Amino acid sequence: MPDSVHELSDLPTDVLPVLAGLLHDAVLLVERGTASPADVDTAMRLGAGHPAGPLEVLAGLAPADRAALGLPHYSLAGADPGSVLPPHRTWSGPVGVAGTGHMAGGIAEAIARSGRPVRVLARSTAAGGGLVGRLTASLDRAVSRGRLDESGRQDVLDRVSVITEPGDLADVDVVVEAVAEDLDVKAAVVSRLDASLPATVPPATNTSSFRVADLRLFVAGPRPVLALHFFNPAQVMKLVEVVVPGDLPGADELRASALTWARHLGKTPITCADSRGFVVNRLLIPFLNDAVRLHEDGLGVDEVDVLLRTGAGHPMGPLALIDLIGVDVTIAALESMAAVEDDPRIRPAATLRALAEAGRLGRKTGAGFHSYP
Ligand code: 3HC
Repeated sequence: MPDSVHELSDLPTDVLPVLAGLLHDAVLLVERGTASPADVDTAMRLGAGHPAGPLEVLAGLAPADRAALGLPHYSLAGADPGSVLPPHRTWSGPVGVAGTGHMAGGIAEAIARSGRPVRVLARSTAAGGGLVGRLTASLDRAVSRGRLDESGRQDVLDRVSVITEPGDLADVDVVVEAVAEDLDVKAAVVSRLDASLPATVPPATNTSSFRVADLRLFVAGPRPVLALHFFNPAQVMKLVEVVVPGDLPGADELRASALTWARHLGKTPITCADSRGFVVNRLLIPFLNDAVRLHEDGLGVDEVDVLLRTGAGHPMGPLALIDLIGVDVTIAALESMAAVEDDPRIRPAATLRALAEAGRLGRKTGAGFHSYP
């Protein structure tokens, strides 16, 4: 696995064409002002486990390779904004998590393991029980690996409670919604939260593809709304994207509260503009789509995955990663981004649609590109 920028200049030549779109997009995000160069690189290192950020990869390439990519003069010059935070409210109390799926469970685990009580807002007691069952299994695994002791395991479980009424979220600092990636579903949850939360409690969306602005439309008054975007598996991945629209009253203080809170969870937060896909998904998901097209051009599923793992040092092959994220979530993210950007790379590859139609959504259905017996 390449472990330095110097070694990255030795990327095998068959890998570079697959990474070309990702590298171009990384430059585009910096040029658009979506995020600083440092945050773009941190995002891909910690949100996708890449051994180096795309701008570091680019900086490490031989001039001829950069020229072949059409990115010959890009440099990392430019100051990053300072990290001094304004005075802000500290979120040290309970946290709400709306949803009971895979992401909601991982987020609840990360928060509870940091010592904060978590109130899981479930559609039903049975759905909430499902999340607690998966949480228990995950904690049992941590105990069996020696990463958590028995009393620590019990403390984490005791911190998580399941509720079905948003009125029971009156004492929380923030509510992270991690329900299905469907704007109508998310809008219904945000409206319901808006009707019952105290005025100062912000809903935070874990959306893969919508903007905070899309969800603010479903909040009646001046209630703050932000994104706290975690990465799958949320209890493991170290990145949180914090997105607070700049025009929100008190935006700087709210962003500071979220950054401090994310650091307390043991995560590394970055900030970025409120645009579809934020940083990681805007870079990663079209790159995964490129990898599907490489497969459609004739490379086997395993060959594609091995190429990126061994050639670029990615922790998982792109097709295995689609299986982890979900074929349906990947398509939804691509469609959402394609709606505002006319780039053929972002239109879902035919194989993704075929898998979705066949019900092969990835790990959660037992099969996607790979099988999970
Ligand atoms: N679910 C839960 N926990 C998992 C897991 C999974 N699918 N896979 C691994 N883990 C846990 C393991 O239990 C282990 O913890 P433990 O040792 O305490 O039990 C820990 O992760 C490390 O596992 P491994 O030693 O097996 O570690 P690996 O070296 O194989 O790393 C990985 C696993 C961290 C998942 C790594 O493969 C990775 O970084 N993959 C990339 C994942 C990625 O890119 N995620 C982002 C997707 S995009 C996204 O989520 C945004 C959304 O909006 C679409």
